[in-house]
Amino acid sequence: MTTGMTDVPENQIAAVIILAAGQGTRMRSALPKVLHPIAGKPLLWHALRAAQGLRPATTAVVLGHGRDQVTTFLEADPAIDPVTIAVQDQQLGTGHAVTCALTELGALTGTVIVTYGDVPLLRTSTLARLVDQHRTEGNSATVLTAVVSDPHGYGRILRGPDGAVSAIVEQRDCDEDQQQICEINSGVYAFDAQVLASTLPRAGTANSQGEQYLTDVLAIARADGGRIGSVTAEDPMETEGVNDRIQLAAMARRLNDDIVRNHQRAGVTILDGATTWIHSDVTIGADTVIHPGTYLEAGTSIGSGATIGPDTTLRQCEVADGAVVLKSHCEGASIGTNASVGPFSYLRPGAQLAEGAKVGAYVEIKKSQIGPGAKVPHLSYVGDAEVGPGTNFSAGAITANYDGVTKHPTVIGANAFIGTNTTLIAPVHIAPGAYTAAGSAVTDDVQPGDLAVARGRQHNSAGWVQRKRAGTASDQAAQAARDDH
Ligand code: UD1
Ligand code: CA
Repeated sequence: MTTGMTDVPENQIAAVIILAAGQGTRMRSALPKVLHPIAGKPLLWHALRAAQGLRPATTAVVLGHGRDQVTTFLEADPAIDPVTIAVQDQQLGTGHAVTCALTELGALTGTVIVTYGDVPLLRTSTLARLVDQHRTEGNSATVLTAVVSDPHGYGRILRGPDGAVSAIVEQRDCDEDQQQICEINSGVYAFDAQVLASTLPRAGTANSQGEQYLTDVLAIARADGGRIGSVTAEDPMETEGVNDRIQLAAMARRLNDDIVRNHQRAGVTILDGATTWIHSDVTIGADTVIHPGTYLEAGTSIGSGATIGPDTTLRQCEVADGAVVLKSHCEGASIGTNASVGPFSYLRPGAQLAEGAKVGAYVEIKKSQIGPGAKVPHLSYVGDAEVGPGTNFSAGAITANYDGVTKHPTVIGANAFIGTNTTLIAPVHIAPGAYTAAGSAVTDDVQPGDLAVARGRQHNSAGWVQRKRAGTASDQAAQAARDDH
């Protein structure tokens, strides 16, 4: 071909056009509708993933409202292939939106897919079925339809005597009979690129909204002698868009159900899919058990044979095989093989637990390495620290890592023993095999095998209560105890 068009391999989709310029008024949100997340990713991300699963030569996204925010998202997500952005300043209809995209894309040949940015459950396999039928039948256009119990608000599919699609009529333009039709237009189509380009300029605005309707292209193409085909979605929910937060929650629920089932099929025990929320990119190994009330959020991977929950959140965490995380909140943490966390632990970014390490109740760990088999079992804060293998960090011991201006490191060697309620005032170095006495405030480095005692020596003032608190319950108790002797 010498037309100056970009050459696209015969079977490749020339372009996917995703409409996402609408305001989404009913969301009542400062955030553009297509950026509202379900399963941890914006609606538009889900729409793009499904579309880009077809490996199209180009993807165009039509943006209007909130386009700066949407563009920022599109450029930042590595899972999204580069897209062409077409701007539609005023939302003058779905036909106008596609015109904006075609202007940006230039002349195309082959198959063009049009879909919406606010339809998150649509699958690549359904789009592939649409493309297959479109090509096999040699259609000018093929529309994805759905049969629903309540078609109100949707465009209805009109069929001629031969059963073929003849036109789509919008809710507002439906007569009484047409309102009874339960087969609706999903808004997803495969078009012959040249048919689309030649019919779109003829789609007028003589309708109740004064908009240019993409749906009009179908009747025009048919009048031109082209064939219009249709594919009906097996699951109508796949074609449903999000218009308000009630639908957003319903889609999130449905997507989560699918994600949970996929993990269950792959050998993960999930005791309660209703209270377990798993983001779409989370990976979980076989024979891991997930208890109720667990949130596994974006960027989390879990090995096999682990036990997570109940009532646990993992965000951007790496959990190795056999680890246990009980009633805890963890973010940006890595939890080693057979390590144990919780109940009631808070792991913050950079918390790294080695194999067999233990972090227990009411312990907060930030940007610290807890060595193999080391234990921080109760009521501690460990920040900017290295805790050596086998070291015990006793109840209530903490690192004082912050002097009000700067954070300082604490380094503790192997098999050390940090006594109860020790305050390690950083920067400080506790050598392997060293001990600190309970209640110490340690400011100086401790050498291997030494014991640091850094607290006032105990002095008992004999008879103090009798002198200073005469006649109190304490005085009487002391008296009685002395008499017993
Ligand atoms: C449209 C279809 C209707 C179909 C329904 C499915 C037309 C004329 N009607 O209805 O047959 O049943 O979708 O949901 O096509 N958009 C733009 N720019 C615009 C207008 C819309 O980008 O100027 C985008 C919106 O952001 C949205 C999508 O297109 O993602 C659909 O717009 P919406 O107003 O929800 O669809 P309807 O016109 O109600
Ligand atoms: Ca809609």
